[in-house]
Amino acid sequence: MALGVLRAPASAPRPALAAREHDPLTMRLSDEGDTGEVVYLRYCSGCHGVAGDGKGPAAPFLSPKPRNFTSGVYKFTTTPSGSPPLEEDLLRTVTEGLHGTSMPGWRFLPLGERRSAVKHVLAFHKEWELRTAEPPVPFHENPVSLESREAIEAAIARGRDVYHKKATCWSCHPGYMPVPDLEKLLGGPARSDIEKPLPKPDLWEEVILPPDFRTATLKSVKGLQDLYRAVTAGVGGTAMPTWKGALSADELWSLAFYVDSLRPPPYSVVNRTLVALAEAEGK
Ligand code: HEC
Ligand code: HEC
Repeated sequence: MALGVLRAPASAPRPALAAREHDPLTMRLSDEGDTGEVVYLRYCSGCHGVAGDGKGPAAPFLSPKPRNFTSGVYKFTTTPSGSPPLEEDLLRTVTEGLHGTSMPGWRFLPLGERRSAVKHVLAFHKEWELRTAEPPVPFHENPVSLESREAIEAAIARGRDVYHKKATCWSCHPGYMPVPDLEKLLGGPARSDIEKPLPKPDLWEEVILPPDFRTATLKSVKGLQDLYRAVTAGVGGTAMPTWKGALSADELWSLAFYVDSLRPPPYSVVNRTLVALAEAEGK
C-alpha cells in the first residue's frame, strides 16, 4: 500500500508539454516531461517552430530559413545524400552550429541535453523509427603528407584538374580558370559565366547559391576532413550530389586540398601549412 502511495505522483499522467501553453523559460529541465522536448521548446522552437515545421517566430527574418524537420531530410551527414542521417551527424551540427547561417552552436548545453534535443528533432518525421540509415561514406585517411610542400602542391594541382575536368564542379560552383583555358582542358565548351555560382533550388523551396570557395563561409566545414566528408557524402536536399563511388579516395582528398587552398587565409589549413613550411625552409 505504502509503495502505491509513494509511486502515485510519478505514474500520474503528465500533460503533453507541447499541448500546454509554451513557456520554455519557466519549464524546469529536471522534473518536467521529456527533456528533449523542453530543451527543444526553450532553445530551438523560436526558429524551428514548436511543431518542427521551420516556422518559428524568428523564421520570417532569417535566410537561409530554419529547417523544417518534418521532411526528415538533413544536409550535413556522413551518410550519402538521400539517406537518413545518423544521430551523431545531427549531434555534430547541433554542437558546432552552421557557419554563416543563424544556426548557433550549442556546445554550452550538456551533452545529454543536446542528444535528447536531437532525438526530439528526428521524431518530427512521422516514420523516422522505421527508416534505416545507409552506412556512412567510407572514410579514408588523408594520403597527403602535411610535412611536404611538394606533396601538398601536387595534391592541389591534381584537385584543380579533378574539379574542372572529371567532376565539373563548376557546373554549379564557380570555375577558377579563364574560360579559354578551361575549354582547352575539357576539349569542349564551358559555361561563359563560370566566375559566378549558379543559384539552385532545394527541397524546401529555397533558392540557394553554391558557395564560391574564395569568399563564402562553408556551413559544416572547419578543416580538411570536413571537406572530404562534405564532398564525398554530398549535401542532402540540395543539388550538391554525393561523389561516393564516382571519384576515388585519392581524387576526393585532392579535391579537399584544392578547395581548401581557395579559401581565405583564416580558414585555409593548406595555405597556413604552406606558409609555415616555407618559413621553416627559409631558416
Ligand atoms: C536563430 C535560429 C536558430 C535556432 C535558435 C536554432 N536553429 Fe537549427 N537551424 C537554423 C537554420 C537557419 C538552419 C538551416 C541552415 C541551412 O539549411 O543552411 C538550421 C538547421 C538545423 C538542423 C539541420 C542540420 C542538417 O544537417 O540539415 C538541425 C538538426 C538543427 N538546426 C537543430 C537545432 C536544434 C536542436 C536547436 C536548439 C538546440 C536549433 N537548431 C536552434 C536556425 C536555428
Ligand atoms: C549540381 C550542383 C552542384 C555540383 C555539381 C557540385 N555542388 Fe557543391 N554544392 C552545391 C550546392 C547547392 C551547395 C550548397 C548547399 C547549402 O549551402 O546548403 C554546395 C555546397 C558545397 C560545399 C559546402 C558544404 C558546406 O558545409 O557548406 C562544398 C565543399 C562543395 N559543395 C564542394 C563541391 C565539389 C568539390 C564539387 C565537385 C566534385 C561540387 N561541390 C559539385 C551544388 C553543387
